[in-house]
Amino acid sequence: MTRFLRYTLFCLGLTSMQVVSAQSPSDRDIERMLRGMSVKEKVGQMTQIDLGVIGRGVPCALQHPVSLDTAKCRIAFQQYRVGSVLNVGCGSGALYRQEWATILQGIHQLNQSMNTSGIPILYGIDAIHGANYTKGATLFPQPLAQAATWNSGLVKQAHEVCAYEVRATGIPWNFSPVLDLGRQPLWSRFFETFGEDVYLAKTMSRSAIEGYQGNDIQNPFKVAACMKHFLGYSNSVSGRDRTPASMDERTLREYYLPTFEEAIAAGAHTIMINSGEINGTPVHANADILTDLLRNELQFKGVAVTDWEDVYKLVDLHRVAANRKEAVYMAVMAGIDLCMTPNDFEFADLLIELVEEGRIPEARLDLSVRRLLILKRNLGLFEQTVFPSEMYPLFGSKQHADIAYQTAAEAITLLKNENNVLPLQTNDNIVVCGNAAYSTIYLNGAWTHTWQGTDASYVNPGKLTIAEAIQAQGNNKVFVIPSSQNLNSDALDMSLFRQANKIILCLGETPSTEVPGNINDLHLSNNEYALIHRLHALGKPIILVCAFNRPRLLEPIINKVSAIVYTYWSGDEGGCALADILYGKVNPSGKLPFTYPRYANAFVHYDRKRTEDLDTDFSMKAYNPLFDFGYGLSYSNFTYSNMQISDTVLGTNGTIEVRVRVKNNSQRVGKEVVQLYYNDLVASITPSVKKLMAYEKIELKPMEEKEVRFECKVAQFSFINKELERTTEPGFIELMIHENKQRIYVQ
Ligand code: BGC
Repeated sequence: MTRFLRYTLFCLGLTSMQVVSAQSPSDRDIERMLRGMSVKEKVGQMTQIDLGVIGRGVPCALQHPVSLDTAKCRIAFQQYRVGSVLNVGCGSGALYRQEWATILQGIHQLNQSMNTSGIPILYGIDAIHGANYTKGATLFPQPLAQAATWNSGLVKQAHEVCAYEVRATGIPWNFSPVLDLGRQPLWSRFFETFGEDVYLAKTMSRSAIEGYQGNDIQNPFKVAACMKHFLGYSNSVSGRDRTPASMDERTLREYYLPTFEEAIAAGAHTIMINSGEINGTPVHANADILTDLLRNELQFKGVAVTDWEDVYKLVDLHRVAANRKEAVYMAVMAGIDLCMTPNDFEFADLLIELVEEGRIPEARLDLSVRRLLILKRNLGLFEQTVFPSEMYPLFGSKQHADIAYQTAAEAITLLKNENNVLPLQTNDNIVVCGNAAYSTIYLNGAWTHTWQGTDASYVNPGKLTIAEAIQAQGNNKVFVIPSSQNLNSDALDMSLFRQANKIILCLGETPSTEVPGNINDLHLSNNEYALIHRLHALGKPIILVCAFNRPRLLEPIINKVSAIVYTYWSGDEGGCALADILYGKVNPSGKLPFTYPRYANAFVHYDRKRTEDLDTDFSMKAYNPLFDFGYGLSYSNFTYSNMQISDTVLGTNGTIEVRVRVKNNSQRVGKEVVQLYYNDLVASITPSVKKLMAYEKIELKPMEEKEVRFECKVAQFSFINKELERTTEPGFIELMIHENKQRIYVQ
C-alpha cells in the first residue's frame, strides 16, 4: 500500500484493515502465479465480457436497476475464470455512482468466492468526456472541443477530473483517449479526435495520458488510460465507420503513428486495436502492426485489448477467417492480449482447444497473462479495488463543473462576426430558436449516459440548455421560440421574430457515433438551408450557433448569416459558456483544430503539399477552405511584431529559440493562441506548405504587449523518408508566426 493511500485513509478515519484485502504481488510473485495457473485460468484472464453477460436481463438489455445474477457470475468467474468486465449492457444506460460501487463490490466479492486464484477482475469503461456512464458526473466538452482550446494544461486538468470521477465509481480503467487523427471530416467519430494536426494532437495526447494516469496508477484518483484505436482507424476511404483504409506505410508513420508514440512515451498502460482494415488486412489479424511495430519497435509493454466483437468479425465481416476458431488463432498469434468478446465465452472455449491441439503454445498465453497481471498489480487491484465513497467528495462538484466550464469557454470558436454583431448588447431584443437550443443532449453528443447519447431522460438535472443559458443572461429581452414550433412550416408565425433585432439560430447534429453516425454528405439538410434563407428574408442579423460533430457545410448560407459560433459538443457547461461569449462576459479564444471545408469534395488539410495549391488558372490559390486550421476570432484584435530567431544556421541536433511580440489592441482582456509553423523548402519527400511546430495560449490585458518565446529542436523538422526512417535533411526552412517569417539553414 502506498504511503499516499495510507495517509488518505488515515484522514478519513479508516484503517487499512477495513479496506485492504491482500498485498500487491512482486514481479517474482507474478511469475510464481503464472507457473501455477492452468490453461483455462490463463485463457480466462484473456477474456473480457460485458456487464450484460453477468447482470439480470439479457446482454444488451439489462434490467434496471442493474444487479448481478449470481448464477451467471458463477459461469463467468468459476467456470470460465474470466479476468475482465466492461461497460454497461452495450452502453444501454448510465448508473448512479453508488450503484456502480455496489456492482463493483459485488463483482469482486463473487469473483473472490468463486475463483480460487485470487486474481482480481479488471473493470474497464468508456469515459470519453468525463465519467459519462455515471449519472451526475461532470460532463466535459468532447475531445475535439478540448483540442480547440489549444490549452494543454486545461486539457490535462479535464482528464484529471475524469480519472477522479471514474475511480469514484470503483472502475480503474478508461477506454480513452482516442488518438486517431481527425483528417476525414465525414467520419462519425470526428468529434472524438484531437483534430487533424499531428503536433496539436500529440500535445493533447500527452496531456490526456498524464491527466488520467499521473505518476502512479495505484493512486486511487487515477485510472489506466487506453490509447485507441491502433492504428489508422480514422482514415477510411469512404469516411464511414470501420470501412477500409488504404494507406502506404510512410503515410501511416508520418501522420497516424506519432500520437501513439507520444502516448507510449508518456507511459500509457493499455491500447485498443482498430476494428477496421488497412490495405486489405484487418488490424486484429495483423502481426506486423500488433507485434513487429507495437512490441518490437515501439517497445510497448502494456496490455492490448481488442475492440468490440472484433475477433469474431474476422469471420462475420472481414472474411479473412473461415470460422471462429481460425479467427481466434489469427488474432492471438497477431498479438492481442485481451479479447472483448464481449457477449459470450466462445473465444475462451476455442482458445483452450487451440492450445490443447498444440497450435498455440502456452508460452504465447503467458506473454499476455503476464501483462494483464502486471497491469492489475500496478493498479493496486490485488490490494484494494473499490474505495470508500467519502474519498471522492468532489464527484460532480461545482469545483469540477468550473473546470468543464472553463474548457468549454476556451473551446467555443467564433468563426464570423460581421459588423461586430457580437457581443450582444444588453438592450438587444433576441429571439432564440433551432433544435440545439432546447436540450443538453445537443451540447453533449454521443457517449453521454448512453452509447449514442440521444436519450433525453438521462440529462443531468440543473444543467442549462443553450436557450435557458441565453435567457438567464438576457433577462426579459430574450424570447425563445417554443420547441414545439416547426420553424420550416408555412404556418409559423413570423411575428414572433419581428419583435427582435437579432436572431440566434442554434443548429445541432443529432448525437451519434460509430456506425449509427455514418452520413453520406456533409451538407446540412435542405430544410436547414431553407430555414436560414427564410429567416434572412426578415432582414435581421442571424447569429448561427453550430453544435456539430464534424464540419457541416456552411458555404451555401455563409452570406446569409452575420455571425457563426462553432460550439462543437461542448458538454454540460457548454450552454453557459456560450451565453457568456455571446454577451461578451467571456472573450472567445477557441481555434479550429481542423481545416473547415468549403465544398463537399474539397477536403484539403492545411498541411497540404504544394501541388494541392495549383489552381485551374495555374495560380497557386486552389487551397480555399471556408476557415483555416488554427482560425478563430476574438473580440480583441492582436498584432504581432518583431519575430526573432537565435540562429540562422543550425546542426541537425541543434535547438533554436524563436521570439515574437504580441499586443492586445483592445480594451478587453483577451486570450490568443500564438502559433509557430514551419515550411521545409526542399526535401526528398514532397514537403508540406506549412506545419505546426509549437503553440502557446497567452492572456493579454487591454493594450498589453508580451514577448512569447519558443524553444524548438531542429529534430522537429524531421520526416519519414523513403526508407521509412525518421530523418532531418539539410536545407532551408522558413519559420512563420502569423504574417512574420524568418529563414534558417539546417546543415
Ligand atoms: C468502440 C470503442 C469502445 C468499445 C467499448 C467499440 O464499439 O469502437 O471505442 O471502447 O466499443 O465500448
